[in-house]
Amino acid sequence: MAEHKSSTCPFCGAHDDFIIYARDWKDENNIKELSAISRENFEMAMRQELENVGFYKCSASYAQSAESKAIFSGLSKIEMEHAYLISKILKIPKSDIKLQDTCFRLDLENLENSFKREEKIKKFYIKAYNQAIEPRIKEIFFGLIEIEGDHAELFKERI
Ligand SMILES: [Fe+2]
Ligand SMILES: [Fe+2]
Repeated sequence: MAEHKSSTCPFCGAHDDFIIYARDWKDENNIKELSAISRENFEMAMRQELENVGFYKCSASYAQSAESKAIFSGLSKIEMEHAYLISKILKIPKSDIKLQDTCFRLDLENLENSFKREEKIKKFYIKAYNQAIEPRIKEIFFGLIEIEGDHAELFKERI
């Protein structure tokens, strides 16, 4: 049977370069020591990702079309994967993860706000990438910049 790799990760949205065959996978996210600045940046990232999960869940529940429902619900899952990745790095138990579901009532307002959220988090990851000194952490922030950039584009096309 021919082997096939997906072009982006269906769970976290990571680009092709980050996708590897299962046989080659090793856990690189069990990081022993984080620099103070990377810790601070991951804590901020965690807050933003969780705010976005809550916002997208809420937006999906008020969605006015099947397409917007699919987008908001898909994005809530992807951002949750990002939050799980960060919780692993920060060694925060999953049970400590709390969501706040607030959003607008109309798709257009939610789409516009989503675009701002994705632009904001992308900018934040660029800053975190530049500040990180650890190679693995730089790699993680780089992957997140690409993904949040895709999300910003996705919303930009719809507002
Ligand atoms: Fe994210
Ligand atoms: Fe995103």
